[in-house]
Amino acid sequence: MKPFMCVYGHTNIDHLLTMAELPEKNTSGNVRSKKRHFGGTGANLATMASALGVPTALVSYVGKDMPPAFRDLMSSKGVLLDEMMEVEGAETPTVWIASDDHQDQVAYVFQGAMADMGDYPLQIKAAKDALVVHMMTGSPDYYLRLIEKPFMLRKKKSLDPSQEIHHVWDAVRFQKALSGSDMFFCNQSEMATALRYIGKESPEDLLSNVPVLVSTLGGKGARIYTRNETVDVPAVRTDVLDPTGAGDAFRAGFYAGLYRGKGWLECGLLGCATSSFVISARGSLESVPTWEMVEERAERLL
Ligand SMILES: Nc1ncnc2c1ncn2[C@@H]1O[C@H](COP(=O)(O)OP(=O)(O)OP(=O)(O)O)[C@@H](O)[C@H]1O
Ligand SMILES: [Mg+2]
Repeated sequence: MKPFMCVYGHTNIDHLLTMAELPEKNTSGNVRSKKRHFGGTGANLATMASALGVPTALVSYVGKDMPPAFRDLMSSKGVLLDEMMEVEGAETPTVWIASDDHQDQVAYVFQGAMADMGDYPLQIKAAKDALVVHMMTGSPDYYLRLIEKPFMLRKKKSLDPSQEIHHVWDAVRFQKALSGSDMFFCNQSEMATALRYIGKESPEDLLSNVPVLVSTLGGKGARIYTRNETVDVPAVRTDVLDPTGAGDAFRAGFYAGLYRGKGWLECGLLGCATSSFVISARGSLESVPTWEMVEERAERLL
């Protein structure tokens, strides 16, 4: 099957630790509970979009230690994994996140096989077949090389660096990548950094660099900006158990709409509906909804 979308991003092993109080430096603290989850921006989006019926391929770099159950989970949802690359001698990216009773968090990020992504040859088999190329966390230099490929002229290119916009990207490379893209995705803090990088004040100003801007607003839903209109999308009211993966889920629902030819508002509603399933359970890939579940919830929002 040919993919509709080719996603580039992380495939991570996430270890979530809970404790009463995060320890001070040079001390230790008891971990109350620990759980391993499968995650990473790329794996999350590719898995959830596939589960919603969008033919999706994933380009990601992992190690030999990649748990077979993780691969099986992605395949079972239909993710095309031909370009999930096992890097010789490297480990799968791993994140340890400790959170305490005051909602404080620390995260330790081990990049593993993704650390040297900027030096790897481009994987472009799925991208050549796909209509949409969605670039998430990962090396800016890799993505800039990808954008410059002649075949990419025919693709809808989405830039979505997520939290890495703050510490991995810089103004020069961001401006270049943004101007080579058709859509930009961000949350509220990422929007602030994007505006700082281009030296502008309001989200509308980004439209001189990129034609479509998809901005998620947490509990307030999302706003989609195009050069013709601005569309406000309400969130689904729900109890938040764990916000991890909310953004990735939004994108999955959004693309499930685009794939079926829906308009901006419906795409946004489908995004919010998909997120609402993911934030009401722990881990990102433990509560992946089906198209029917998402469609029904999005219709109720209208
Ligand atoms: N408290 C909430 N109530 C309802 N929906 C929410 C809430 N928080 C997030 N969402 C949904 O998730 C979407 C994405 O959330 P947000 O803007 O926080 O993204 P994010 O910061 O990238 O998330 P993350 O990085 O934690 O996955 C929102 O557009 C909304 O639909
Ligand atoms: Mg996010």
